[in-house]
Amino acid sequence: MTAERLDGKRVAAEIRQEVAADVAEFVASGGPTPCLAAVLVGEDPASQVYVRNKARACEKAGIDGRTHRLSADVGQTELLRLIAELNADPSVHGILVQLPLPDSSYDERAILDAVDPLKDVDAFSPINVGLLMQGRPRFLPCTPHGIVQLLGRYQLSVAGKRVCVVGRSDIVGKPMAMMLAQRTGTCGPEIANATVTLAHSRTADLGDVCRQADCLIAAVGRPEMITGDMIKPGAVVIDVGINRVGDKLVGDVAYDQACEVASAITPVPGGVGPLTIAMLLHNTLIAAKLQRS
Ligand SMILES: NC(=O)c1ccc[n+]([C@@H]2O[C@H](COP(=O)([O-])OP(=O)(O)OC[C@H]3O[C@@H](n4cnc5c(N)ncnc54)[C@H](OP(=O)(O)O)[C@@H]3O)[C@@H](O)[C@H]2O)c1
Repeated sequence: MTAERLDGKRVAAEIRQEVAADVAEFVASGGPTPCLAAVLVGEDPASQVYVRNKARACEKAGIDGRTHRLSADVGQTELLRLIAELNADPSVHGILVQLPLPDSSYDERAILDAVDPLKDVDAFSPINVGLLMQGRPRFLPCTPHGIVQLLGRYQLSVAGKRVCVVGRSDIVGKPMAMMLAQRTGTCGPEIANATVTLAHSRTADLGDVCRQADCLIAAVGRPEMITGDMIKPGAVVIDVGINRVGDKLVGDVAYDQACEVASAITPVPGGVGPLTIAMLLHNTLIAAKLQRS
């Protein structure tokens, strides 16, 4: 079997066009230009690239993308002061604090909690996590939402199927599991009603657990740890991992091996990555709409 390659780049471009059209319509109807404020603390090279890409994507979608750059030693108090300012600024609709923060002197939880839940376009605040948990989300977290969109647009329904999510981070694994287990219509039209297993580093017999899955989603951060023999023949494989090995980016799934067994798979790069930014733009528009009403 040679798996179908799920083209996240193409789907992300499609979503970005849709968002751009919705932004134009919103502004034409008298709405404010949606604005996303990104806060970047320190000089981490990967974070600088992410923030630059987000700003470019905003511009193309007709969103005002602002970047606030702070030095690594600015400190918790100053950072909280900036977030309070952005919370109070009516021209800012979405706030994103680029992670990771430079060092452990920052209380990451307290900083993320300080973002106004109506401007929390990453959907990290306890209120937004709680709303998702209860099946009435305000914002969907960007990476899992991108995956839901990808599955939906390729008509890969998970209803009644077994999904295994490997990795239980607050950013990807946990919300992914929660979204796929929801009732129809909660987090996307068809992508719901899965029977979900959430695996992690303490899961016994990980290979056996993965092999039972009709859809396997890897969000671990370990290069190519999901090997071909861990995949059920015909399964759909979504690789969230982005790992730098030498001068190459590789996923959490051994791609060539997986292609022999799976029915469909996302590549790295060009799979899940581009979808995350597309869904961030989508959330910024939702934030602008919520704050208008
Ligand atoms: N494509 C995108 O847009 C995007 C967005 C976000 C993240 N990512 C990438 O996705 C990957 C995961 O990111 P993350 O933020 O979710 O990572 P994270 O916070 O480091 O969480 C990793 C998870 O993997 C689990 N894990 C670690 N080793 C394992 C093993 N040997 N077997 C089973 N589970 C294991 C951990 O289990 P424990 O909880 O037991 O420690 C943890 O739950 C990274 O490569 C990251 O760069 C991509």
